[in-house]
Amino acid sequence: MERVYIFDTTLRDGEQSPGVSLNVKEKLQIARQLVKLGVDVIEAGFPVASPGDFAAVAEIAKNVRGARICALARANFGDIDRAWEALREAEAPRIHTFIATSDIHLRHKLRMSREQVLEAAREAVRRARRYTDDVEFSAEDASRSDTDFLCQVLAVAIEAGATVLNIPDTVGYAVPEEFGELIRTIREKTPGIEKVTISVHCHNDLGLAVANTLAAIKNGARQAEVTINGIGERAGNAALEELVMGLYARRPLYGMITGIRTEEIYRTSKLVAALTGMTVQPNKAIVGKNAFAHESGIHQDGVLKERTTYEIIDPTVIGIPKSTLVLGKHSGRHAFKTRLAELGYSLSEEELNTAFARFKELCDRKKTITDDDLLALVEEEMGRV
Ligand code: KIV
Ligand code: ZN
Repeated sequence: MERVYIFDTTLRDGEQSPGVSLNVKEKLQIARQLVKLGVDVIEAGFPVASPGDFAAVAEIAKNVRGARICALARANFGDIDRAWEALREAEAPRIHTFIATSDIHLRHKLRMSREQVLEAAREAVRRARRYTDDVEFSAEDASRSDTDFLCQVLAVAIEAGATVLNIPDTVGYAVPEEFGELIRTIREKTPGIEKVTISVHCHNDLGLAVANTLAAIKNGARQAEVTINGIGERAGNAALEELVMGLYARRPLYGMITGIRTEEIYRTSKLVAALTGMTVQPNKAIVGKNAFAHESGIHQDGVLKERTTYEIIDPTVIGIPKSTLVLGKHSGRHAFKTRLAELGYSLSEEELNTAFARFKELCDRKKTITDDDLLALVEEEMGRV
């Protein structure tokens, strides 16, 4: 099995979620949990962005061991020097420098020619290499760039000493077939590409960030840039938990492993949600409240007989103690009886029949049935109240 490296950017791109601002202490807490989770690289921040971001990267670099610590810098000397200042005490530092390569960005944002972008990329990587031998170069808006020019910029970055080349789908515009194809073309057309790790960084504007990342991995990418709970700029980034569990659940298809300790996933998700204030939607894959909850009678009966009838992942693998059977109007007798047994009640067939009929009536009046509702109903049925 080949290894896919997990580059977590919760503390950088994740913090770019509108409304999210983490202080140094909170960033340190998340970084420590990311090490427990087993990520390979922590992108700790963008030091030139603010004194607080600089301080957070410096604190993480100084105190967090067990993962590579990365800082972001635009392709200019000021940003790169500042990134290094923040990173210098890291055990394994990485400078991540980027410049846009799409004509839209060149014309309207950078107001630079292609030649100027090539030169800036070359100089930025060289400058970063003066500080560390681990330099990542990103071609921002790669998926909307002219492919020949993109490959030219990537070749220049390799020649200047970049060790990781990142291909971002900055605006979440790509679709899986096309993005996979782009990675394959880059591998075919970029001189020196076999010397570096290809990384991808997908945004979720069309809800395809994880699918695009998987397509890229199928075509040779070996580093995936992700965030916990998929938080990030606009619609967010590829979600770490979805990508990692996708590779895990479909191991025979992808033949890839990660270094993630999956049993830490749920705890990490909870911590990030609590500290960022970005709550996880109930139906969110892997870590949502409903991801391992079954409501319909047919599904509950199946899961009670054999978990794998309706679950593709054992919840304990991601640190959730067990799946839940939610009692509601779609629930069946099997789940009802099982829950009563868990609450310490063993009813005769006749008692069970009438209690179940009354339970169904209650469900039509009340959306959520709690254990207290069940207790009241059964005690009444057994003539105790
Ligand atoms: O989305 C993007 O292009 C980025 C780069 C800085 C890697 O976040
Ligand atoms: Zn991004």
